[in-house]
Order: sequence, then structure tokens, then C-alpha cells
Amino acid sequence: MYIIVNCAISVDGKLALKTRRQTRISSDEDIARVHLLRSSVDAVLVGIGTVLADDPKLTVKEKYVPNPRQPIRVVLDSKGRTPENAQVLQGAAKTVIVTAEDCTKQIGSAVMLRCGRGRVDVVKAVGKLEKLGIKRMLVEGGGTVIWEFLNKKLVDEVNVYVGSIVIGGKGAPTMADGDGAGTMEEVVRLKFLGCERLGDGVLLRYSVEK
Ligand SMILES: NC(=O)c1ccc[n+]([C@@H]2O[C@H](COP(=O)([O-])OP(=O)(O)OC[C@H]3O[C@@H](n4cnc5c(N)ncnc54)[C@H](OP(=O)(O)O)[C@@H]3O)[C@@H](O)[C@H]2O)c1
Repeated sequence: MYIIVNCAISVDGKLALKTRRQTRISSDEDIARVHLLRSSVDAVLVGIGTVLADDPKLTVKEKYVPNPRQPIRVVLDSKGRTPENAQVLQGAAKTVIVTAEDCTKQIGSAVMLRCGRGRVDVVKAVGKLEKLGIKRMLVEGGGTVIWEFLNKKLVDEVNVYVGSIVIGGKGAPTMADGDGAGTMEEVVRLKFLGCERLGDGVLLRYSVEK
């Protein structure tokens, strides 16, 4: 599967405010790009942290892409904490919730996949998603999930929009949280592909050295 990480960060690398509340970092031009990107993939994936913090729809808006093909929405949610009224379960697009094996919950009409003991095993999850026909997937966050995908060497491409703001604060989520690299061998190495000004910010594009 071809996996693209896309996120918007402040100049100091933060994904959101220290309250974890969703923050407008992208310019209008970048938002339009993200909707176009979403319409080009088979699935858009986020972690349960993002669902609980932002309650995103994860759909492609008609305003940006006429008659869009809606990608499947995927949530990594080991314990099945996705609220029944979450926006990610509403609307026409399909939703897949991936839980750990010991979770037996059925959430709304989502397709439930189970893998991993205690926590979702992302490598196995990608294998199961591939069997559903997903060949190209966008990972939109948050920081915990982005680190997990990078650390497990599942990512092919990274798109980072750097908005012209500084959020600050030790506790504010960053682009890659999780455990992080403890040694230089664990550092994720990227190859710079290019950059582009989009409104009052910059889009940086990288491939990932595997
Ligand atoms: N600026 C942007 O582009 C952008 C995009 C998205 C989100 N955000 C921000 O990011 C923040 C949320 O980030 P977050 O790090 O708290 O949450 P997250 O990365 O969305 O979700 C993390 C959760 O996913 C679940 N998960 C399941 N399997 C996992 C695995 N193998 N590895 C890692 N996590 C796994 C874990 O909960 P369980 O153990 O319960 O499964 C984990 O706590 C919010 O503040 C949101 O606004 C910003």
C-alpha cells in the first residue's frame, strides 16, 4: 500500500494548541489541496485521539472537488471509544474502525476490523485494509499515529504544511509524538522532494527512506 502522511504544523512543529483543540493552521489554498489529495486516495486514516479532539468528518467537500469520490474513513481505536454520534460515522462515506482483538464492540454501522493485543497492530491493520481494496491511503494524524506509521516504516511520502504561526508550549501535540527516536538508528530519514508557497505558509514534500 502507498501511504502518504499529511499534516499542518506551526513553525514550532505543533499540530494543535496545548488544550489539544483543533487549530486553524492551513491557509485556504492548503485546505483546497488537502481536499484534492483526499479525493485521490482510497482511504483517510486518523487515530481516536483526533476523533475525540476534533470530531472530523474526513470527507471531501464539493466546494473543493466537484462530484468527489469519497475515500473510506479509517479510525485506529483499540478500545472502541469512537462515540456513536461522531461525525466520522455520519454521511455517505464508509467508515472502518480498527480495534484491538479483545474489543468486541460494534460501533454504528462501521465495518469493524480487529488486530493486535491491547493496542491495534498497525502493520497487521494495513494488511487487512489492503484486503478491502485500499491501495493508497492518507494518514492525517494525530501525532501519535503519525509517529507509529513512520516508526514502523509504513510511510512512502510526507506532506507537511507549515503555517506562519507559533503555538508553543511543551504539552502541545507535535507532528510526531509517540515514543520518538532514542538513537540515531531510530531517526526517520526523509528525502526532500520540493516546496511550494501556499497562501501565507509553505508546503514541504518528502519521500521516506526505507
Ligand atoms: N494539524 C493537523 O494536521 C492535525 C491533524 C490531525 C490531528 N491533529 C491534532 O492532533 C491531536 C490528536 O493527536 P493524538 O496524538 O492525541 O491522537 P491520534 O494520533 O489521533 O490518536 C492516538 C490514539 O490512537 C490510538 N491507536 C490505536 N492503535 C495505535 C497504534 N498502534 N499506535 C498509536 N496509536 C494507536 C491510541 O488510542 P487507543 O490506545 O485507545 O487505541 C492512541 O492514543 C489533536 O489535538 C488534533 O487536533 C492535528
